[in-house]
Amino acid sequence: MKTSIAILAAGLGTRMKSNLAKVLHRAGGFTLVEHAVRAARAVADAGDIVAVVGHQADAVKKILQPYGVAAALQTEQRGTGHALAMAQPLLEAAGGRLVVLYGDVPLLSGDTIRQLVAEYDKSGKAGVVITCNLDDPAGYGRIVRSGDGTVAAIVEHKAASPEQREIREINSGIYCFDADLVWKHLPEIGTANPAGEYYLTDIVEILRKHGHGVAPMLITDFNEILGINNRVELAQVDEILRRRKAHQLMIEGVTIERPDSVVIDLDVRVGRDVVIESGVRLLGATVIGEGSVIGAGSVLTNAAIGERVLIGPYTVIADSEVGEDAHIGPFARLRNHNRVAANVHIGNFVELKKTRMGKGAKAGHLAYLGDSVIGAKTNIGAGTITCNYDGVNKHQTTIGEHAFIGSNSTLVAPIEIGDGAYVGAGSVLTKPVPAESLALGRAHQVVKQGWKPKTTAKKG
Ligand code: UD1
Ligand code: CA
Repeated sequence: MKTSIAILAAGLGTRMKSNLAKVLHRAGGFTLVEHAVRAARAVADAGDIVAVVGHQADAVKKILQPYGVAAALQTEQRGTGHALAMAQPLLEAAGGRLVVLYGDVPLLSGDTIRQLVAEYDKSGKAGVVITCNLDDPAGYGRIVRSGDGTVAAIVEHKAASPEQREIREINSGIYCFDADLVWKHLPEIGTANPAGEYYLTDIVEILRKHGHGVAPMLITDFNEILGINNRVELAQVDEILRRRKAHQLMIEGVTIERPDSVVIDLDVRVGRDVVIESGVRLLGATVIGEGSVIGAGSVLTNAAIGERVLIGPYTVIADSEVGEDAHIGPFARLRNHNRVAANVHIGNFVELKKTRMGKGAKAGHLAYLGDSVIGAKTNIGAGTITCNYDGVNKHQTTIGEHAFIGSNSTLVAPIEIGDGAYVGAGSVLTKPVPAESLALGRAHQVVKQGWKPKTTAKKG
């Protein structure tokens, strides 16, 4: 049987006090709406998932695009029932099961959605709703059970009687329905409630009226259905996700010095026997090979780090590859597409941008290497600068293998320096240097023997 999924994600989230729509805020490195999509994929193909978007619809669609998930626009937020109706034209033909999720419930797992679907299949009912008992149910829709244990109605907090407010079992807003029945009866939902909204929760009584029951699926882990309303909850969920990730990595054989101090995005992959020192951030699609050490305070974003790489403290790497056994940092910065081969050494205060360094090349201290290709075993002296920018365009620096660039050299690009070439310290080079040659681009030292400064001031 086919499963289609509607993710309701059109709301602004007033309590976030933000210019950014709620579902675009991030936890664990992903936007909230992405968490819903990723969980939804446990039971449905991307083509059968529709997100209902409204606030900042274009930005939300852009996030959804790589997932291949379609969007339905809800221009005015007139309630959850109205939101689901926006997805009807896109999902109606599928039939089968219809799962409803929220875009602001990031800890709901694929396993729980699978369980919901299994429960629905077993129940023979028109729908199953996930519920949870809370000590403080204020604000939530309450589950009113009928004598046979099924759900007689879901009553919103605002509309609930004092007795109904005593009910501790709440509606998560996560459902699995018989799709055909819901699409058929959805238009019967009205706005006769204190908020004047189309409440999806009314579908329970409507289905009942037509002779179809809805069963509850009571769960114990409230986190699974925790909807983010403000930034305190956002931080709590982020912490839960980070802690889970660190825990999972440690179980898999990664040493993490201070697990609560590191921030590791959910899709980051880390090999065995990697040591992650305190305060490290591993973000995006970062991958770390076995046996590497990531020094304290380092920030790696979309970095591919080989095996046994030593990254010294406070190193920042983005969108770059580092080969095995390399040593990087402390205090190095690699940004914007660098490819650093095996056994390279990059020391403190060295910045690389769009640069390739061959095997065993070294830049030990204080250098800027931009738009350059540096051959294997070449040594870049302290203070070397590639002058890659002429104010309008960027130019390339190419240095061969086994070359030696003396300290404080200024390489004005475009420029080529051949294999085995030497550049004298302090040179400013604007012309090519052939292989196996010495280039000196600096004033000759002048020594005046017996020279004394002329003193004009009189001693007094
Ligand atoms: C809803 C349920 C309530 C349940 C609670 C669980 C209804 C009427 N109430 O209440 O029983 O206990 O969730 O958290 O369904 N949305 C839209 N368009 C709209 C309105 C909402 O896309 O017009 C989206 C929101 O972006 C959000 C989700 O639907 O992701 C839930 O909406 P929200 O307003 O938070 O519902 P609650 O009042 O919390
Ligand atoms: Ca809510």
